[in-house]
Amino acid sequence: MSRKRTSNLSTEAYPMRLQRFLARAGAASRRGSEDLMTAGRVTVNGVVVTELGSKVRPEHDEVRLDGRLITLRDSHTFLILYKPAGYLTTLDDPQGRPTVCELVPGSEHPGLFPVGRLDYNTTGLLLFTTDGELAHQLLHPRHHVPKRYRALVDGVLSEAKAEQLRQGVELYDGLTVPALVEIGATAPKTLTARERLRASEDRTFSVETTTVWLTITEGRKRQVRRMLTHVGHEVLALEREAFGPLELGDLPQGQWRYLTVEEVAVLREACRL
Ligand code: URA
Repeated sequence: MSRKRTSNLSTEAYPMRLQRFLARAGAASRRGSEDLMTAGRVTVNGVVVTELGSKVRPEHDEVRLDGRLITLRDSHTFLILYKPAGYLTTLDDPQGRPTVCELVPGSEHPGLFPVGRLDYNTTGLLLFTTDGELAHQLLHPRHHVPKRYRALVDGVLSEAKAEQLRQGVELYDGLTVPALVEIGATAPKTLTARERLRASEDRTFSVETTTVWLTITEGRKRQVRRMLTHVGHEVLALEREAFGPLELGDLPQGQWRYLTVEEVAVLREACRL
């Protein structure tokens, strides 16, 4: 398993505006950083830079404020877990049931918490961070961060139903916003003897399953399950394959890995309006 750490590394691999760099490094607020620049107090590679909008490459350029070296440090931790079924997404369960926190190195990273939640039986990508502000941004509906789910549903899901899901369905907490929906393969169900008998007697009893991918930008409670139930299909299994720009890749189920510097940069980019 790759355990490349991002802690204490810059997460900005690309050019960025100097005032933003200063603000991110904690030198001043964004506005205050602009004032520092126009006052001629900031140098880049030994040259005073007063023009707002000038770009720096955090990895290469030497930025100084009143002669003092300014560096970007990202002291936050970011990791993803491939959540197995049978774990609650919570920091602590009073009833003592298994929680996702048992699967990640929380004691090494005080303040580590899951960003959003996956249901007890849902598997897939769960992001953890110590960066509360970024988590808040990622979950804010304004940013429309896409989450891709693969569901196995009971029965054959028709194109008409998929279209309904794409357009939006009315749930108890309101109409869902447009989603991407792609129908995959259908497969025969493995039936018990009792189900075989039922299927022979009841023509409406479904003997097939359908794989379907849904990409949604909202994050309501049990949303994917409720959307699919709404169009008449029970969810037999649900997995989150992607969260914004993050994908599970070849991470084994039950394992975690730190995000790479590039992944953190792209994640931050996903919340920039
Ligand atoms: N939608 C659901 O129904 N469950 C999850 O765990 C995540 C999204």
